Amino acid sequence: MWRVALLLVLRVGGLGLVAWGAFGGIASAVAAEAVPLTEAIAERVRELRREVAYHDDLYFRKAAPEISDYDYDRLKAELRRLEAAYPEIGDGGAPAPAAVGDDRDDSWPKARHRVPMGSLAKVFAADELAAFHAGVERALGTGDVAYLVEPKFDGVAISVTYEAGRLVRAVTRGNGEEGDDVTPNICLIPGVPQRLAGAPETWPAVVELRGEVYLTKAAFERVNAAETAGGGEAFANPRNLAAGTLKQHEAAVVAERGLSVVFFGWGAWEPPGNTPATLNGFRVQVAAWGLPVAPHVRAGRGFAAMHAAVGWWEAEREKLPYPTDGVVVKVADVAAQRILGEGASSPRWAVAYKFAPARATTRLTGIDWQVGRTGAVTPVAEFVSVALAGSEVARASLHNAGRVEALGLHEGDAIVVEKAGEIIPVVVGIDLLRRQPHAVRCAVPAECPSCGARLTREGAGLRCEDAGCPAQLAGRLAHFASRAGMDIDGLGPALARRLVESGRVRSPADVYGLTFADWTALPGVGTRTGEQLMAAVAASRARGLEQVIVALGVPGVGPAGARALAGRYGSLAALAEASAADQAGEDATLRRAQAAWLADPAGRAGVHALLAAGLRSRVAVEGEEAGGPMAGAVVVFTGALEGWTRAEAEAAVVAAGGEVGGDVTARTTVVVAGARAGATREKAEARGVPVIDEAEFRRRLGR
Ligand code: IVH
Repeated sequence: MWRVALLLVLRVGGLGLVAWGAFGGIASAVAAEAVPLTEAIAERVRELRREVAYHDDLYFRKAAPEISDYDYDRLKAELRRLEAAYPEIGDGGAPAPAAVGDDRDDSWPKARHRVPMGSLAKVFAADELAAFHAGVERALGTGDVAYLVEPKFDGVAISVTYEAGRLVRAVTRGNGEEGDDVTPNICLIPGVPQRLAGAPETWPAVVELRGEVYLTKAAFERVNAAETAGGGEAFANPRNLAAGTLKQHEAAVVAERGLSVVFFGWGAWEPPGNTPATLNGFRVQVAAWGLPVAPHVRAGRGFAAMHAAVGWWEAEREKLPYPTDGVVVKVADVAAQRILGEGASSPRWAVAYKFAPARATTRLTGIDWQVGRTGAVTPVAEFVSVALAGSEVARASLHNAGRVEALGLHEGDAIVVEKAGEIIPVVVGIDLLRRQPHAVRCAVPAECPSCGARLTREGAGLRCEDAGCPAQLAGRLAHFASRAGMDIDGLGPALARRLVESGRVRSPADVYGLTFADWTALPGVGTRTGEQLMAAVAASRARGLEQVIVALGVPGVGPAGARALAGRYGSLAALAEASAADQAGEDATLRRAQAAWLADPAGRAGVHALLAAGLRSRVAVEGEEAGGPMAGAVVVFTGALEGWTRAEAEAAVVAAGGEVGGDVTARTTVVVAGARAGATREKAEARGVPVIDEAEFRRRLGR
């Protein structure tokens, strides 16, 4: 009997239908019983080959998958099993899917691995895990096998070569034989030393250390928060972001994203006599060399203990600070590993057990087409909220217009939502069987939902080209004020929107002309918040040139480009006069940034507006004292001043080179006490912090 219980029909990737059935689908049924080859099976194999090749390309080369990793792995597993069961199908002229895919791109030098980098066989259920153990037991002649069960880091495979203790090369898996040499980027990861620690006699002449480059959940959330604060598109999951970052050519961007690495195995080890006897021995040795190893592993003997460890991880993995997509079960003893040997593209002594991602079906209530600061229009699905991996979710990214079309979403559809990398919810499919008979297809808008301008199509995406579009302006303002930019505390996306809607701001530079009355006229902004915003805007005048350039958000000028431009031009005024005739020298980052800068007249207009608003940012010279009569002062105000509002007084401190504190702390250098000063004054006196009155404050300001 075939075990094909179709629960759902998922439409994915624009390449037809993928059946999501009871576990194993066609493939495991075939493996279990010999079913004669039929045309339907041959057609399924052809279809799977097309699907896998298509998704291989998206996954490995473009780092922009359209289906969940879990579905992708299951497609490949189904294909592999059908091909094994029906060798008579042949390749039918179709290109054989790559065993380990291929992550190489044209922009990096290539390097060959001494020992090829394989992948791992994947299983999805307990019976397959039992089959793996049975194979191990047959080969070793005993079921009493020592296993190590550790999290499968969801990142990008890397091979780092040390020769006589010195780092010589770091190479991606590539096609398994040859990968991209990304050594400069690996050297930016903290925890990858140039020289091994420990006793030199423990350093092999050559060792290829195999591991995974990944982003912690916290780093991923930090990068995405910064990206979306400015209206940019969020990265889909930590794996894609790690893959993209590892192939980045701007060192500053790589450093800023905060990649991590972990080592769990080796390729070449020369001379071979000293290889560790067990995986635990390897962990101890590698840690002694000062390299990171998986902090959490579980050991167990025999199938029951191994299976229990897998179950333990399934429950615990959400608590881990890094993303995982399963566990890896490994025979711990290296001599036993040698007996088991290697298969075509994966070792027979290890297997990856993939956890099913948290997934739920819910009802689509609408699509919110969001306009970002660059004009990119991004669809977000809105649906009846569901619990997913520990939180309530009611919105999920649909990436772009092309994805909405490929899914063929209809109003009120039963959609399947999944948390990719356990973090960001995405719509992975539709339950077509539950579609209402006369449901209307969700339209891709022709006009900008914010300003009504006609949208233009760019590949799979949509763009609003109207530079005056309110949504774009609000996005630009939020980016301008974000932590990475002018760092105007309190001015987030919601307030930016209200400012633009109020008509008070037409370009980010307009914030420097806002009065206290302008701020407090906004809904939700009271006296205290108004004062804080005035002070935060005043404080932002002191930002260096590099931050100002980041704040302007010129397409193609990232943090590294901003640094290069700031170093080259030195001041806002000089940057405003930049021209194509300017020399960039050998510096590729500067050349790229300069070209992007010159191609964006809006950036130049922004600089002129900032100059007109009185900003005089220049590159801070190292060792140079911040100027101003209150340089170095940290001032706390208490009580009511006579001649000033609190906001004016705070702005005056900042303009004089000082800093304003909210409460008396160890950093406070002076407290300005007005009428009815109370507890703060007492606290300052108790701590011996000088307390001055309004007249003395004016004197210190030089007024
Ligand atoms: S052992 C033959 N342990 O998953 C390679 N791999 O899908 C033996 N991975 O190539 C690898 N976490 O890049 C191993 N704890 C872990 C892992 C792990 C992530 C990656 C690795 C491997 C891929 C296979």
